[in-house]
Amino acid sequence: MADRLKVAVLASGRGSNFQALASACLAPDFPADVTLLLVDDPDAGAIGIADTLGVRSYVIDCGRSKGSMSKESSEEIYRLCSENGIGLVCLAGFMRIVKGRLLEEFSGRMMNIHPALLPSFKGLDGQKQALDYGVKVSGCTVHFVDKGIDTGPIIIQRSVPVLQEDTEESLSARILAMEHEAYPEAVKAFAEGRIEIFGRRVEIHDE
Ligand code: GAR
Repeated sequence: MADRLKVAVLASGRGSNFQALASACLAPDFPADVTLLLVDDPDAGAIGIADTLGVRSYVIDCGRSKGSMSKESSEEIYRLCSENGIGLVCLAGFMRIVKGRLLEEFSGRMMNIHPALLPSFKGLDGQKQALDYGVKVSGCTVHFVDKGIDTGPIIIQRSVPVLQEDTEESLSARILAMEHEAYPEAVKAFAEGRIEIFGRRVEIHDE
């Protein structure tokens, strides 16, 4: 049997995408395992989920600069990932820009999920940005991570309607349900070697 892909998830908060990924991996035909959770906040809800699921977790001090990560923390996360044989890093609500060694070494092997249809509404509060702008359709995007903010090649997008009566909460909930489907699908395709990157374009081959 081929080796299963080992996935590390980086998160900062609630951890519902971490949970969706880790749970998807429990299915017998899913070719990957989430083996590591790395958080930058000791209060992150994701830690409790990791404990319940038996996934090892570490709190990494990423520095005091909000939205950014220190050189040391990039090195430390890279070290933990390489020591643990990680083949794919998934950012799931990780609220810092990844840079340094971690970004270089995991180029093409690091994904992020964003709660809007990129390239619209990059950065923070993608759902609120979409509501405020008045778009009629929004959604989520799984993309590879590059050195920009939410700029890497797009792997999967899922759309949801924006309803007249939507609040930020109701729209976020509808998008989140799509996130929980799209992220495992992208990881599965990656683990099965069905993803090819051609510059900005990503092709997913059939199973
Ligand atoms: C998700 O909606 C994710 O798309 C978003 O944070 C939330 C994390 O939720 N990420 C970003 O906004 C990144 N720019 P979770 O902790 O329950 O997975």
